[in-house]
Amino acid sequence: MAANISLQPATTSRDITKMERIGAHSHIHGLGLDDNLEPRASSQGMIGQGKARRAAGVIIKMVQEGRIAGRSILMAGPPSTGKTAIAMAMTQTLGSDVPFVMLTASEVFSLEISKTESLTQAFRRSIGVRIKEETELIEGEVVEIQVDRSVTGATKTGRLTLKTTDMETVYDLGSKMIDQLQKEKVLAGDVVSIDKASGRISKLGRSFGRAKDYDAMGADTRFVACPDGELQTRKEVVHTVSLHEIDVINSRTQGFLALFAGDTGEIKQELRDQINAKVAEWREEGKAEIVPGVLFIDEVHMLDIECFSFLNRALEGELAPLVVMASNRGITRIRGTKYKSPHGIPADLLDRMLIISTKPYSEDETREIVKIRADEEDVKLSSESLDLLAHMGLQTSLRYALNLIAPSQLLAQRRKSLSVEVEDIRQAYKYFCDVERSTAYAKEMSGMMFGEEEVGQEGPAGGASTAGMNGNANGSAMDTSA
Ligand SMILES: Nc1ncnc2c1ncn2[C@@H]1O[C@H](COP(=O)(O)OP(=O)(O)O)[C@@H](O)[C@H]1O
Ligand SMILES: [Mg+2]
Repeated sequence: MAANISLQPATTSRDITKMERIGAHSHIHGLGLDDNLEPRASSQGMIGQGKARRAAGVIIKMVQEGRIAGRSILMAGPPSTGKTAIAMAMTQTLGSDVPFVMLTASEVFSLEISKTESLTQAFRRSIGVRIKEETELIEGEVVEIQVDRSVTGATKTGRLTLKTTDMETVYDLGSKMIDQLQKEKVLAGDVVSIDKASGRISKLGRSFGRAKDYDAMGADTRFVACPDGELQTRKEVVHTVSLHEIDVINSRTQGFLALFAGDTGEIKQELRDQINAKVAEWREEGKAEIVPGVLFIDEVHMLDIECFSFLNRALEGELAPLVVMASNRGITRIRGTKYKSPHGIPADLLDRMLIISTKPYSEDETREIVKIRADEEDVKLSSESLDLLAHMGLQTSLRYALNLIAPSQLLAQRRKSLSVEVEDIRQAYKYFCDVERSTAYAKEMSGMMFGEEEVGQEGPAGGASTAGMNGNANGSAMDTSA
C-alpha cells in the first residue's frame, strides 16, 4: 500500500521552524565553544553559563554523530538565566539540514487537534529524512539561441547551441523550452543547467569569457567559469524533508497547501504507518537517511499528565528526536494531577532525562550581556549607564535590565543625546515597573483590582512551590517574568 508516497514539494525542513526576527535572542550566533567544547568567556554572543553551554555542546556532538535519538534533556533554572538562549544557540550550531523545532508547551492545547496529535506532529517535524536522488543535467555555456516562428506565429521551433571547454552540441528546442528560455531571459554567454527529466532551466551565471561586455548587465550579475568535460552530467542532489512534511503532502484531505496554511488537521495513523514503512524501505535501498533532529519544548511545566505519558512512550519509538525541555519551576504541581514533583514533571519521565542546570549571572556577566544587547539594538550606553543597568539586572532580573535598553534610548533621543546616560535609565526605571514593584503595587491596590480571589487562593501555594528555583530574593518573579 505504501507505493505512492510523494515527496513534492521539495522544501527543506527549515521552512517550518519559526524565525526570530529582531527577537530577544538575535545576538546569539552559537554556543561559543572551542574545538574541545570548552566554553569561551565571550563568543558568538554568549557570556558565562559555561557548564550548561558545555553540556549543550556535548549533546550537539552526540546528535551530529547520530548517537542520541530518543533521549531527553531538561534545562532547569531560574528565569532569564539563558535556557531559551542556549536552545537558540544549539539550533545555530546544528547546521541547516538538521531539523530543530521549537514549541512552547501551551501551544499543545489547541481546539482543532488533540494534545497527542500536536505532540506527534512536533515529533515528526523534528525528524528529517535526507533523500538522495540522481538527476541528469545538461550544463554548458550558451553559444547561440535560434528561434524560428511559423508564418502565423502560432508554432515555434528552435535550436540551442551549448558548449563546454571541451565540446559543443546543438539541441533542438520545442515551444515549451523556448518559452522557458525567454522567461529566464537566457542570452548567449550565460551558463545554464537543464534538468533532463523535468526540462527545467536554471541560470548559473555569466561566463567569465563574457566579463568584458559588463555594461550590458546589472550589478548583481554573477560570473562563473565555462564548464569543462561532457555537456551531460549526472548529479546527486540531496534534500532533507521532515517526516511531518511527507505526512502532510500525502494526506489526501489537505494536500501540500496545508503546509503553507499551517492548518494540517489530524493526520491518520494508517498514513503515518505507510510513510514509516516507505521510509524504512528507502533506507534499506540506501536512498534515504534518517536525520534525528531536536525538539525544544519551552515552559514544559505547562504540559499535563497525559502529555507527559505520551512523551514517555514516544521517546521509546524508533523514530524519536532528541527532546530538550526547559522549565523555571521548582517543586510544583503536575498539571492534571494533585501531585507535586520537581519542575512539574512526573518522576518516571524525570528519571530518563539528563538535567542541565542554569545559574543566575554575576554582575560582570550581566554587564557583558547588557553590552552585547545594546550593540545589537544599536544603542550607545555611557559606561556609567552600563554599570547601572548591570547593577539593576542583578537586583531585579536580567530581562528587566535588557528591557530597559530600548525605552532609555528613546528618552535619550528626546533629549537629543546620542548616548544613553544614567538619567535616562532612571527615567525609564520610573516609568516601567519591575516585578517587585509591580507586586508591591498590586498589594497596595488590594481590593481595587479584578481577579484577586483566584490569586488569593493560588498565591501562597504557588509562591512556596517556586521558591526553590528562584535566583533572586523575590519569590513571585518566577511566575511573571519568564
Ligand atoms: N549566557 C548568555 N549570553 C548572552 N545572552 C544571554 C545569556 N543568557 C541569557 N541571555 C539573554 O538574556 C535574555 C533572557 O534569557 P532567556 O534565555 O530568555 O532566559 P530563560 O532562562 O528564562 O529562557 C535573552 O535576551 C537572552 O538572549
Ligand atoms: Mg525561556
